[in-house]
Amino acid sequence: MKAAVTTQTGNPEVIQTKEVPKPEVKSGWVLIKVKAFGLNRSEIFTRKGDSPGVEFPCIQGIECVGIVEEDPSGIYKKGQQVAAIMGGMGRFFDGGYAEYASVPLEIVFPFSSSLQWDILGAIPEMFQTVSGSLNQALDIQSGETLLIRGGTSSIGMLACQLAKIKGLTVISTTRNPTKKQSLLDNGSDHIAIDEGLVEDQVRALFPDGVHKVLELIGTSTLKDSLKCIAPKGLVCMTGILGNEWTMKEFTPMGDIPSLGRLTVYMGESKNLSKELLQEFIDEIENGKIKLNIDSIFSLDQVAEAHQYMEDNKARGKIVVLT
Ligand SMILES: NC(=O)c1ccc[n+]([C@@H]2O[C@H](COP(=O)([O-])OP(=O)(O)OC[C@H]3O[C@@H](n4cnc5c(N)ncnc54)[C@H](OP(=O)(O)O)[C@@H]3O)[C@@H](O)[C@H]2O)c1
Repeated sequence: MKAAVTTQTGNPEVIQTKEVPKPEVKSGWVLIKVKAFGLNRSEIFTRKGDSPGVEFPCIQGIECVGIVEEDPSGIYKKGQQVAAIMGGMGRFFDGGYAEYASVPLEIVFPFSSSLQWDILGAIPEMFQTVSGSLNQALDIQSGETLLIRGGTSSIGMLACQLAKIKGLTVISTTRNPTKKQSLLDNGSDHIAIDEGLVEDQVRALFPDGVHKVLELIGTSTLKDSLKCIAPKGLVCMTGILGNEWTMKEFTPMGDIPSLGRLTVYMGESKNLSKELLQEFIDEIENGKIKLNIDSIFSLDQVAEAHQYMEDNKARGKIVVLT
């Protein structure tokens, strides 16, 4: 089969598309004929050698969508549409950057849809992250105010749509004023221009602060996000777009306001349910939700797609079609 193999750690050119043996089918695993997969920023860290325990060469890709080629358990039928995400995929065993992927049964999610594969490929990890962050970590409720820090990211754009459907008021941030209109078109009620501090802009709109914050920039803006919450407000750090994993100084009694709450979301396949995924796919099919897909690459162009993602050129999800 053809696969985009990460031959060693390094820059995008270490990813080379070549012929490799098709994976063996084993008991408890499902062989998927991959049709498409989304690219994820965590795959840049893995490529660079920053994901502990990953050995090279390997086939990366923490998610894929496709059809069942073989399932020794008999649970899934040949040709059935499925998605697979996380659970060590593309890190501890070969992942989705290939024509076929063999994955454990636990990370397989069946679905049925007439949407095109490029749209379906954008969904699994993006939906798991947004749904888990909003519903499980932030426990969003109708009538609340939500600040999305990193609003133009694909996670941020989808989070805004789901929060609006649930009846929240949303403020989205961007560093780039030219992206203001696309955030409004996506449903945001207010925009804050983020040069590192947005507390004043947020308090000008909501003097008591916001109920919830989805923090996608990470440690570089986290202290300011904590300053934006109302008493008993909650901040969830889900992303690290600012590329800073560790905060230099953090004083809990000082940086977290009294009664304020801080959590993180590190999604896994167990955070996703088969029913929720199908419902979400149906909502896209019915036109209730619009996915922001920036570009489609082919399996021969995965190195190029990694470079594009790393250069921050995308304004939406990057998808690869096999
Ligand atoms: N916890 C989880 O389970 C999980 C799962 C998936 C993804 N994530 C994380 O969620 C975050 C969003 O992912 P994504 O794929 O949606 O991102 P994305 O679409 O690639 O985000 C692109 C946007 O990020 C902003 N950005 C880029 N570099 C930045 C910087 N240094 N400082 C501030 N903003 C910057 C830019 O916004 P502007 O130019 O408009 O400011 C850009 O439009 C990532 O950190 C990703 O790793 C977490």
